[in-house]
Amino acid sequence: MSIEKCSIIELPAIHDPRGNLTFIEGPDGKGHIPFTIKRIYYLYDVPGGAERGGHAHKNLHQLIIAMSGSFDIVIDDGFNKKRIHLNRSYKGLYVCPMIWREIDNFSSGAVCMALASNLYDEDDYYRNYQDFSAVVHQKL
Ligand code: TYD
Repeated sequence: MSIEKCSIIELPAIHDPRGNLTFIEGPDGKGHIPFTIKRIYYLYDVPGGAERGGHAHKNLHQLIIAMSGSFDIVIDDGFNKKRIHLNRSYKGLYVCPMIWREIDNFSSGAVCMALASNLYDEDDYYRNYQDFSAVVHQKL
């Protein structure tokens, strides 16, 4: 898959003097994201200078949102790379399968939430960049 398939999705935001509200529906509903959510996880209390990610998924689709604070995601399809800064709770980065991702540059208090299309499955991961790169190059 190409990093061109990974895009920033702007989510609805209901502005209100009492506080703003954002919601997300999958393909069964308003279709803000192209997959049904089966799992949610989030990173928090990330120490300054830490890096997360460092893997690709074979089949998983994800939407990654900076719920609070900010961080960068570097997406890499084995041919091209792009660094994307996330800092809004109403914008998410859609990451399709077969994309290597690194997450760094976390601000203090950052919360990184991931909506995922499937349950946790270690067999769905490439955790070694060389293995990932070999597969995407052979698939051409
Ligand atoms: P990992 O996916 O490597 O984290 P990140 O990509 O954010 O750096 O997961 C770190 C650990 O947490 C690993 O031991 C697997 C475990 N884990 C689960 O048990 N369930 C989950 O849904 C996730 C995302 C991770």
